[in-house]
Amino acid sequence: MGVVKKEKIYEGKAKILYATENPEYLIQYFKDDATAFDATKRGTIQGKGICNNRISAQLFQLLEEKGISTHFIKSLSEREMLVKKVEIIPVEVTIRNIVAGGMSKLLDLEEGIILDAPVLEYHYKNDKLHDPLVNEYHILALKIASLEELDAIKKISFMINQILKDFFAKKNLELVDFKLEFGRYKNKLVLADEISPDTCRLWDKETKQKLDKDRFRRDLGNVEAAYQEVLKRVLS
Ligand SMILES: Nc1ncnc2c1ncn2[C@@H]1O[C@H](COP(=O)(O)OP(=O)(O)O)[C@@H](O)[C@H]1O
Ligand SMILES: [Mg+2]
Repeated sequence: MGVVKKEKIYEGKAKILYATENPEYLIQYFKDDATAFDATKRGTIQGKGICNNRISAQLFQLLEEKGISTHFIKSLSEREMLVKKVEIIPVEVTIRNIVAGGMSKLLDLEEGIILDAPVLEYHYKNDKLHDPLVNEYHILALKIASLEELDAIKKISFMINQILKDFFAKKNLELVDFKLEFGRYKNKLVLADEISPDTCRLWDKETKQKLDKDRFRRDLGNVEAAYQEVLKRVLS
């Protein structure tokens, strides 16, 4: 029997969540809407939702095969996946392998410097506060997550980094950095949200061409083609 799509429960910047007949599951719908710089820049990337849905599905399946628990259950359509409904931990976890974006600005470092060891950052997911950079002490003091959860988040995030780095390397892509969101499902920590060129920086290994949302942020052109190219390589 098919999944029944019920009421919209949340519309975010890039995705919409719908209830289903099963209270433990949600449908995650991927839009073509794009935002950057705290949603001060807005636009549309034709076909982005289709690419991100398929790329995310592929990567969640890869991670599941490697023993990482994710919210992904199955793909439903071009733009929709069925996921476990989690209680999102309002922390964005960023892992960086190469200096770019926020880290380049924060520490006045040139983009492209290869880090000796990956850097993990937390940003408190709060639009009103503009997702501020926080550390583990803030997260614990504000009871955003427990120490046990933080330890698990770190361990799993670095495991994901290794898996994704190796995977993308085979596709001739460099995983510069990426953002993860975790949630609680039946007292267990699971990876949620999406993994896509909206949430990862991916550079072609040879040409260093940017194949991610930076093309939209920085008006580099060929934005749609970049998402299509990542999808093609991920499926290859
Ligand atoms: N499995 C899930 N269960 C509940 N919420 C989720 C799940 N996966 C992602 N989310 C949340 O749903 C929203 C997805 O839509 P998005 O457009 O990314 O929103 P936002 O603009 O808040 O980033 C995010 O707020 C994300 O934290
Ligand atoms: Mg989001």
